[in-house]
Amino acid sequence: MIDHPLLKHKISLLRDVNTQKKEFQELVDEIAMLMAYEVTAGLETEEYEVETPLEYTKGHRVRGRQITLVPILRAGLGMVDGVMRLLPTMRVGHIGLYRQHDTLEPVDYYFKIPPNPEERSFIVTDPMLATGGSASAAISFLKESGAGAIRLMCIVAAPEGVQRLLVDHPEVPVFTASLDRALNEHGYILPGLGDAGDRLYGTL
Ligand code: PRP
Ligand code: URA
Repeated sequence: MIDHPLLKHKISLLRDVNTQKKEFQELVDEIAMLMAYEVTAGLETEEYEVETPLEYTKGHRVRGRQITLVPILRAGLGMVDGVMRLLPTMRVGHIGLYRQHDTLEPVDYYFKIPPNPEERSFIVTDPMLATGGSASAAISFLKESGAGAIRLMCIVAAPEGVQRLLVDHPEVPVFTASLDRALNEHGYILPGLGDAGDRLYGTL
């Protein structure tokens, strides 16, 4: 879990039922940017020569083009710009999934990632990790396509979702800014923040 005073502050605003769409979108964006600093901490860098005004020195660069951000539609889209602000050369793939209301099983409707996935590392974004079904399915699709290293980045996670990921994809690091208490009988995270997609896009 990423523990930071700014994240705690912004997640509290995000949870607030009185936070409206515009502010909700801005908060998701800012939280994603703050989290991206930690999520990208383990990325490899390559050395190159930099000419300062005084002499040459060793520089380091992250190969952003080798990293692909994969939002899970819809709500994961809200995190894209925040991460891209730190690593603008990243590629972006998309995975379309929604949870069936009665079974809570994920239904897939879209999959598009850049070519040569085996040469890339992936960061999957979704604000909510509830049962973990959607994130687990998204990661399975990426693996089936031959994806290299995969990280998962969510804002609020339920213990059930974290456990599901540990069982299904133990090698995938899960970054979350809040570990919440539980799921309710409808699969919503408690205390949570409600339906992230609906609050982001005003479809409540
Ligand atoms: C939400 C959320 C996750 C999923 C989490 O998406 O954005 O993708 O539910 O639940 P899970 O961990 O139990 O799978 P939703 O299905 O509401 O689709 P939407 O983003 O299009 O609203
Ligand atoms: N999806 C959401 O958007 N919110 C939840 O609490 C659970 C799943």
